[in-house]
This record gives sequence, C-alpha cells and structure tokens, in this order.
Amino acid sequence: MEFSKKSEENLSEIYNPEYEEPEELNEYKEGSDEGLVNTLQILSWRNRYKNVPIPTMILDNSLKVIWFNSSFNQYFDSETERKFSHLTDYFSNLKDIEKLKNIYNSLTQDNSGYTWQGRVTSKNRRRRSDVANLMITPLDLNDDGTPHNFTGILDIITDEYREMLRNMFSSLLEASKLKDNDTGNHIERVNRYSKFIAEDLIDKIEYPEIDEDFIEDIGFLAAMHDVGKIGTPDDILNKSGSLEIWERDVMNEHTKNGAYILSTYPNPMAKQIALSHHEKWDGSGYPFGMANQMIPLCARIVALADVYDALRMKRSYKESFSHEKTKEIIVNLSGTHFDPDLIKCFQRNDEHFDKIFSDLTDEGKK
Ligand SMILES: [Fe+2]
Ligand SMILES: [Fe+2]
Repeated sequence: MEFSKKSEENLSEIYNPEYEEPEELNEYKEGSDEGLVNTLQILSWRNRYKNVPIPTMILDNSLKVIWFNSSFNQYFDSETERKFSHLTDYFSNLKDIEKLKNIYNSLTQDNSGYTWQGRVTSKNRRRRSDVANLMITPLDLNDDGTPHNFTGILDIITDEYREMLRNMFSSLLEASKLKDNDTGNHIERVNRYSKFIAEDLIDKIEYPEIDEDFIEDIGFLAAMHDVGKIGTPDDILNKSGSLEIWERDVMNEHTKNGAYILSTYPNPMAKQIALSHHEKWDGSGYPFGMANQMIPLCARIVALADVYDALRMKRSYKESFSHEKTKEIIVNLSGTHFDPDLIKCFQRNDEHFDKIFSDLTDEGKK
C-alpha cells in the first residue's frame, strides 16, 4: 500500500540519532522517543500537554506514536512493550483495513483539513474494553503545506458508553418481566451462575473467547434469555396443563423473537443467548438443532445455568428439587443436553451453584 512506502521516507526525516534533548526537557523523558526531532511546534506541544490529565500523543505521518504525555503513559501502563508503536497496536478496532484507509484518506486530504475523529477501542484479555473518541489534527507542516506530524487527543468515554448500553438493556428487561412467568430472582441467579462459569474457564486455553468483557457481559445479558416471551400469547404462556404440539411450537418461537428483539443491540452476545439457549449439545434442541461447538459458548453456559435454576425452583407443575437431586439430573445430561466440558466445570464447583441459589432465594415470593 502506498501508505507504508510513503511513511518509511517520512520516518527517516523524523529520526535523528545525533539529536540531544534540550536541558529544560530532561526532567521529562518518560514518554519521549529517543531521536525524535523536536521542531518548535513539537517542543511547545510537549511542554503544554506533558502533564495534563487527558491522554495525548504525537504521531508521525505513518501514524506511529512518537511521543505521549504522562496521562497516556498511565492509561497504557501495563503494556509498555507497545511504547512508540503504530496506532493500530494501541487500538484494536483500527486493525480493520477499511477503517485505517479511512483515517489515512482523511489525514492526507486538504478538504478534510488533514484531520480525523472517530471511535477507538482498546482491550486485552485481562482488562475490559475501553472506548474513546480520538481526534487527530496536524501539528507541524511540510513546505508544501501537508502535515509532517499530528497530535492525537483521547476522550475516554467507556463509563458513559457502558451506562448507555445498560440503560437500553434495563428498560427491555423491565418490559419482559411483565410477561415472564419465571418469577422471583430466577434471572438474577442465571446471571450469577453464568458469570461464575465464565470466570472459572478464563484461564483455559480451550476458551480463547473468554476475556474480561465476556465475563462482565454474560453476567448481565444472561438475564435476557427469555425476552422473546414478550411475543408469546398469554393463554399459552400461562397454561397450567401440558401444551399441545402447536402450542409448543408457538412457545418455542420465543427464541427467534428474542433474537429479533435484540438484533440491534450492539453486543451480539445478547442475541446469541436469546436465540440458542434451548439448543442441546447433541443437536436435539431448538430452534435450529445446532450441535456441539456450533452453539455459541455463551448460550451453552446460559442453558446450563437456566436448567439448574429451573429444577431448583418450585413451579406450578413440580416441586422444587434439592441441590443433590438437581446435580444428579444435570450430570446425567452431560453430552446429550449439555456441553460435557461445562458439566466438568459444574462438578468442580457445584456447591457454588447451591450457594447462589440460597443467597438469592425466592422465599416469600411466589
Ligand atoms: Fe427460554
Ligand atoms: Fe429461564
């Protein structure tokens, strides 16, 4: 790509191994790339922003980070190996080539003012994703008026972003509670069991998809598994006797309805849980009869959590089962209904399931 060829030439202009840092800047070596040629603009920018509480950086025109302030350094503290690397090493969503092209086009065009602003995300497996708005603007110019270096300023909006998603989710959950016949603390307990299983599996190499985001997300999205029951007619939902075949078919539609309702929710896990929490490991579940790893992991986890809790609960058609009896039923369904590996996790930790059930008991409720 033309981008990288051009950037190599520009890099050689910027680096000067003979350069010595002016005396007055020596106290602030922390985020400064050795060999960086300090133009007047760079020096003034560095002095002005070195200690401000907003993460700030200087980029060359290959988008390599060539200087950053103390706040930026603090923000990426645990990943020191990434110091002075390309912008894409800091922000995972910029690894998308189309997004990168878009940035490059914007920064090389006069009509966009050689600027770019947009959403960036950064994450690693042991840390939750951060979401930020990044604004890149020219710092100093070449003789032809094109930018030589850029400044980048990060506005971290993770908390606001998460709160917005949670608020969207809470209103939907409240609406679904009006219809759901699973009363009491069932959905909160399903959240807790699901989160517990994910936490137990995070260090296993078989589950690379489990990271801090997965754990946090399943811990509140599991509650959405039956949101599709909003669309199930009351006479079927509340029928006390056994369901006719056609009624069962209508009832089973709650999986697809849930997926439809959650299809625009930004986190795909919500939709996967709603759609696939009644699939079974051996392919005998619904709505699609998916089997084994074809069933999304989050849905396999929620299936186990949901059934454990349903067995423990008193229903109109059954008494509540003890933990021991529930455990026996669940373990017997390993490899047919449930993922055998998740059953091993359940067997290693079954007393935690019992504890979650007791801690969030429905005593006093229907
Ligand atoms: Fe369901
Ligand atoms: Fe449920």
